Parts: sequence; structure tokens; C-alpha cells
Amino acid sequence: MNIKKICCIGAGYVGGPTMAVIAQKSPDIKVTVVDLNEKRIAAWNDENVENIPIYEPGLSDIVASCRGRNLFFSTEVDKAIDEADMIFISVNTPTKTYGVGKGMAADLKYIELCARQIARVAKNDKIVVEKSTLPVRTASAIKDILDNTGNGVQFQILSNPEFLAEGTAVADLLMPDRVLIGGDTTEEGQNAIQKLVDIYANWVPKERILTTNVWSSELSKLTANAFLAQRVSSINALSELCEKTGADVNEVAKAIGMDSRIGSKFLKSSVGFGGSCFQKDILNLVYIAKSYGLNEVADYWEQVIIMNDHQKRRFGKNIIQTLYNTVSGKKIAFMGWAFKKDTNDTRESAAIYVADDLLSERAEIAVYDPKVQEDQIFYDLDYLESRSADENRRGLTVTNDPYAAADKAHAIAILTEWDEFKTYDWKRIYDNMLKPAFIFDGRNLLDKEALQKIGFVYQGIGS
Ligand code: UDX
Ligand code: ADP
Repeated sequence: MNIKKICCIGAGYVGGPTMAVIAQKSPDIKVTVVDLNEKRIAAWNDENVENIPIYEPGLSDIVASCRGRNLFFSTEVDKAIDEADMIFISVNTPTKTYGVGKGMAADLKYIELCARQIARVAKNDKIVVEKSTLPVRTASAIKDILDNTGNGVQFQILSNPEFLAEGTAVADLLMPDRVLIGGDTTEEGQNAIQKLVDIYANWVPKERILTTNVWSSELSKLTANAFLAQRVSSINALSELCEKTGADVNEVAKAIGMDSRIGSKFLKSSVGFGGSCFQKDILNLVYIAKSYGLNEVADYWEQVIIMNDHQKRRFGKNIIQTLYNTVSGKKIAFMGWAFKKDTNDTRESAAIYVADDLLSERAEIAVYDPKVQEDQIFYDLDYLESRSADENRRGLTVTNDPYAAADKAHAIAILTEWDEFKTYDWKRIYDNMLKPAFIFDGRNLLDKEALQKIGFVYQGIGS
């Protein structure tokens, strides 16, 4: 029997876009995305499709093309589970903030709650697909819960990690490098795998759909992110050496990237990587390695995080040193708060940590980001608990006008590589700043020579 109804638990940065694309490409399947968060679901259902809660280029068009046809967003989790033949779990798996594995292991409580809910509600056989990034062997934990607390129905668990990157989610989903599906090697497992393969085969070439056992699939996701993050930390480590030696990290990146064995992607030196995956997944890998007593393996991967923390902190330190060792009472304009361009996601964004350090030195920060809302920025800062909520609001303001952010500022810090920053009237910005006017370009985004010609003191990363 073919899959007729899919439900996805979790309407976030992964669940939302993924299900929108599946719905668009599979008009015969009814796709229902459910979430406990009523506000989020209301936003997905907003009459004006531009108001959906996740900003991704191209996403609103896809949602508009199938919402109400075969794509639905709802808070009725039980009903959607009951109806579905296939259930995707796409809930958040943050790093644990308490107990064993605190600060490292993934917190699986949301996953477990989902599994228990599925077990309680399901009245017929179902295929359950892990979409959230999970530590290795989570599938077997889910299976345990389903088999032991369920209503005697059969569950097949598949691992189908999502490799989309935010900001390019739609393109990544429409033309993935590969789709990975892990499942049991039993006949039932292979049948379940085939059903998911058939869905992706609606638009993904067959040779790009890989099937493996569950554990290989789970570990591949962590490993892909660890390798990518490692490249960024490697080039960032070199950036500091370049600054000391007079080499230019952009030139070095170009030169090594042209080696076809190395390749040119993910060699952009920056203020440090952010996002919901890199740090979390590496910490997960470290935790798993440690739990098997593999201390050298754990230390090896942990260094990628240590380097990234250093890169974020040294950016702020450099601003303080350059502004004559004090930023107290000085206005610093932040251009960008998101962890990369073309997303409104701020999780683990370097901007949060740079702001934290500068606020501790009593700087006055004015933030402009084209897609991130003020309440999110204060949520990120308040979460750190470095200062009271009042102090954060006294030290930092958010504006929706980049020129206002820079007005009478001592310095500008570029934290996100939004394309629009390149198009600003930088002469106008310069004229309204205090002199000397500094730019700290944490993304090597702007035209250094042009800015220097205007009169800015320009500092990029790694040169
Ligand atoms: C990542 C993986 O790319 C994706 O496959 C996985 O599914 C989820 O994690 P994402 O976190 O959305 O995706 O963004 P990514 O493009 O990987 O960037 C992560 C961080 O690294 C960003 O902060 C980005 O600015 C930074 N980065 C990336 C660099 O600093 N330099 C680079 O060269 C590339
Ligand atoms: P990701 O980037 O992995 O998609 P998000 O945090 O953006 O992560 O999305 C996860 C979503 O899962 C959140 O909107 C959250 O409300 C939802 N969620 C978590 N647990 C449950 C649950 N038991 N039932 C329904 N939705 C849930």
C-alpha cells in the first residue's frame, strides 16, 4: 500500500520547509504539519503567505502553491498522528542544560514525548521517520518506547536526516546532493525504506537516494556537520595566523581551495560559525566518543568548538582594543544578528556572543537585521543570564533602519553577510559617524579599498 497521509510533528526550520516540498512534489499525499506552539501554527496559516514564521528564499511560493490543497498546518497533534501512515518526527533536540551530559549530550525529552504520544494514539501500523538530528542509537530508543507502550500495532523506524542548510533550504530540498534513509535490515524494514524512497523519487534522481542501516544514517548526519564545521574552524585558525604574518586569508583560501582534493566550499573565514546544528552535533559526537572511552577522538572534535569560541571572542576583544581599550558609553552599530544571511534564525549566532562581551564592557549597541525581530534579539541575550533583562534593554537598542543604527556611532560591526549591506550609501553612513569611523567586518563582506577611500578605518578577518 502506498503512503496516502503523512504527518510531521514539529513545524520548525526543518519540518516546515521539508514538508512543504514533499507536499508540492507529491500532490496525492495529504501532508499535515503539527506543532504544540499555537502562535507558530497560526503564522504558518496566516492569510498573507509572506508572514509564515520562517524566512527562506522561495519558501512562501511553495507554501502558497499547496497550502489548503494537500498541505495543512494544525495544532491537533493526536488527530494527525491517528490519520497518518507515515509520521516524521521533527522536534527540537537542544543540548542538555541539566544532569548527566549537561552542555554536551542532546536533550531527547521532546523526542521521547513524541514517541509516547505516537504510542498512545496509534491504532494501526505506522512508519516513524526520525528527521531531527539525533545521537546514534536514538532510533532503537524510540522503537523500545513504541513497542512497549503501544496498542499492539507495528512500527517501523527509519532515520532520514535532513541536510538542508538554512538560507538555501528550498534549493537544497529540491536538488539535494543526496537523500539518506536508514532502516532495519529485515524485510519489514526494507519495505518501509522503499515507501520513503518512493516519495523522494517523485523529484530526486534514484542514484542520489542512499539507503543504509539506521546507525550509519544517524552517524552520517553528525559526521557531515562535524566535517563542515571543522573546515570553518580550520580556516578561522589560519585567519589569526594571517593577521600576524601579513598573509591574507582570502588569498590563502583561494589558493588551497583550487586544489581539487580540498575544494573551494566552506573556506570563508568569519566571526565564527553559528546555527542550530554545528556546535550541537559536534558536542554530541564528543559525548558519544567519551561515553565509549574514546578520549582522543573526543578531544579531537572538541577542538573545533574551542577554536570557534576563540574566534567569536577575539572579534569582540579586537573591537575593544582598537577603540583605545574602552568601549564604555561608545555606540557600536551591529549590522546583522542572524547566524548567516537569508534566514531569520539566530540560534548560536556569533552576534549574540560578541554583543554579550561588548555589553559587559558597557558599550551601547544598536542592532539592525533585515529579518530578525526585536523580541528574538532580547530573547537571545536574556537567555545568557549575563545581565538582567533591564540592563540588556538599556545597553542595546534595535532599529529597522541601518542608517539610524550607524548614526553617531564610533564603529560598525558586520556580523551577518546580508547582501543588502553591500548596496548601502557608505559615504552617507561615514558622514554621520564619529571620527575616526571604524568598520569591523566579521564576514569580509564589504569592499575594503572603497571604504578606506571614503575614510573608514577598515578591519576584516584574517588580513
Ligand atoms: C548546516 C549544514 O550545512 C546542513 O547540511 C545541516 O543540515 C545543518 O547544519 P546551517 O547551520 O543551516 O547548515 O548553515 P551552514 O551554511 O552550514 O553554516 C553554518 C555556519 O557556518 C554559519 O554561521 C555560517 O556563516 C558559517 N560558515 C559557513 C562560515 O563561517 N564560513 C563558511 O565558509 C561556511
Ligand atoms: P528545527 O530547526 O530542528 O526544525 P525548531 O526548534 O525550529 O527546530 O522546531 C521544532 C518544533 O517542534 C518547535 O516548533 C516545537 O514547538 C515543536 N515541538 C517540540 N515538541 C513537540 C511535540 N511533542 N509535539 C508537537 N510539536 C513539538
